[in-house]
Amino acid sequence: MNKDHEINRKHWDDRTEAHYIHRGYKVKEFLEGTFDLHPLELEEVGDVKGKTLLHLQCHFGMDTLTWARKGATVTGVDISDKSIEYAQKLAKEANIANTRFIRTDLFDLPEKLDDEFDIVFTSYGAIWWMSDINKWAEVVARYVKKGGFFYIADCHPLSQMFDGDKKVIEPYFHMGTERYYDETDYCAKDVVIEEEVGWRWSLGDIINALIKAGLTIEFLHEFPFCVYDKWPSFVKDDDGWYYYPDRKNDIPLTFSIKASRR
Ligand SMILES: C[S@@+](CC[C@H](N)C(=O)[O-])C[C@H]1O[C@@H](n2cnc3c(N)ncnc32)[C@H](O)[C@@H]1O
Repeated sequence: MNKDHEINRKHWDDRTEAHYIHRGYKVKEFLEGTFDLHPLELEEVGDVKGKTLLHLQCHFGMDTLTWARKGATVTGVDISDKSIEYAQKLAKEANIANTRFIRTDLFDLPEKLDDEFDIVFTSYGAIWWMSDINKWAEVVARYVKKGGFFYIADCHPLSQMFDGDKKVIEPYFHMGTERYYDETDYCAKDVVIEEEVGWRWSLGDIINALIKAGLTIEFLHEFPFCVYDKWPSFVKDDDGWYYYPDRKNDIPLTFSIKASRR
């Protein structure tokens, strides 16, 4: 058992409960039939009909279940008991069959799941929680079928360096284990996180770990927009992406990678 991951499991239980009922997560709209994924990942992942898809760090499963609505047979994995409990509840309420959710630390998944998948997927707010980038990539690669691929869209590591005025406030490179106390949740602002543990990984760390684990990089894309209102100054466009107000597009805020097992 990874002690630092266990620290995170506790606050993800609290955060999941708050997210599920928060307007920002749009559970009501999802139950009415809207899709939860962004055009970016829908386009870059492509047609999932008839495919098997493993969603790592699936939270309470709204993205996982959206892939199921698009025709994939899905398995969602998350460390938080509450995330898995709510994912199962959501699947039932939305009447989406052929879904499976597993509660486990991602690093322990090989002890619990023996399959391989056409697509392994993870997104927004995933990498920061991984204490060992090479171990993460090994688990990712372990589940990609020959001919299948891994896809990630996440917050760009470079974006962590800057505040809302583009002033440098943090380093870019890996700093070992970082501990934060009494932070506020990014969505449910009334939830205070007693202790959070995280790890910053550069784009090079991520890419090289995937290559080392045996995957072939198909593309790396970088975007000047972000999935949430990271800073109060951010402005939202019609597609729901957030930008710095000057729209100079000089700082990457999101990246995506597709890596295949040939
Ligand atoms: C920001 S959320 C990801 C949200 C995701 N994009 C979605 O589909 O809604 C991060 C998730 O990672 C999970 N997580 C954090 N550490 C983990 C670990 N070691 N193993 C598995 N899941 C983990 C948390 O429980 C949380 O649900």
